[in-house]
Amino acid sequence: MRQAGRYLPEYREVRAKVGFSELTRSPELAAEVTLQPIRRFAFDASIIFSDIMVPLEGMGIDLDYAPGPVIAEPIRTMKQVEEMRSLEPQRDVPFVMEAIRLTRAGLPAHVPLIGFAGSPFTLFAYLVAGKPSKEFAVPRSFLHAEPQVSARLLEKLADAMIVYLRAQAAAGAQALMLFESWGGLLGPYDFRHVALPPVKRIFDGLKDLGVPLIYFANNCGTVLDIISELPVDVVGVDWRVPLAGARKLLPGKAIQGNLDPAVLFAPKATLEKRIDDVLADAGPAPGHIFNLGHGIWPEVDPDAITRLVDYVHERTAK
Ligand code: CP3
Repeated sequence: MRQAGRYLPEYREVRAKVGFSELTRSPELAAEVTLQPIRRFAFDASIIFSDIMVPLEGMGIDLDYAPGPVIAEPIRTMKQVEEMRSLEPQRDVPFVMEAIRLTRAGLPAHVPLIGFAGSPFTLFAYLVAGKPSKEFAVPRSFLHAEPQVSARLLEKLADAMIVYLRAQAAAGAQALMLFESWGGLLGPYDFRHVALPPVKRIFDGLKDLGVPLIYFANNCGTVLDIISELPVDVVGVDWRVPLAGARKLLPGKAIQGNLDPAVLFAPKATLEKRIDDVLADAGPAPGHIFNLGHGIWPEVDPDAITRLVDYVHERTAK
């Protein structure tokens, strides 16, 4: 969950020299900031530095990071949807695959590299709203006011994310993760009928690759029964979700999560107690990947991450 970023002084040093968008387009620098947290912490896996919005820039969307994504011309019409280019990863975002190749070459052999993309509904939320928002009222109302434009946009995004993730795997990503960061905006009916079909289309389009597929379902604790239908290996959950209950709702799938990132501000003894609670909640059966429930905040002390990783390893060592 956002391994690189503003909580690391070495990342801030790179960012003092280049803008965020430029960083995502510079394979050497993107590989460098991907490797930074791996040098510092004993993480079991690495996630490529990029952003879920990067492939949309490749599809011709004019956007900026401030620091959340801001779209110059938010999508409102079928014409705009039709004008979005179909993604050809080697033509439109070759620097992502190059960053993956460079990172893989720089990683220790035992640390797998995760590639990622945003879910169609999460990308739709940004594209229609035009900027980050708490309620995303504009995209939520748009879904109902313009169902055909919405459906076409979601379908187009799904097709783009399939080729994008396949290109990442071909470049060396050893697992693929889809971020459903805003799925929690939807009630069960719309989650099933709007968010889920394009996600299923994506995972169906990746199955033959044989790499583990991870679906991070943020704030989706009330729709895990629906998520259980997805052809995915791992479901990542946020800190609001009771893991024991989630595991029952997701038979046959591994679960990833879910320490509240806010707990990284607690004293050592509390942090350890709260890690113990997550491990106890997940239970002894195989198929739990310890993770945070969401990204690391910029204000976090990197030493808290060291304590977390070391303690989880100590507690789970065979
Ligand atoms: O290296 C890694 O750890 C990969 C990091 C990563 C970033 N974005 C880098 C980033 C990942 C996995 C993402 C995905 C992403 N981007 C998501 C899904 C994950 C989630 O948080 O739910 C979303 C919703 C975005 C869109 C986005 N990009 C937002 C909302 C923001 C602003 C966040 C903030 O902290 O205010 C960004 C910018 C961004 N993406 C930063 C980083 C390191 C901060 C940019 C900076 O350096 O100024």
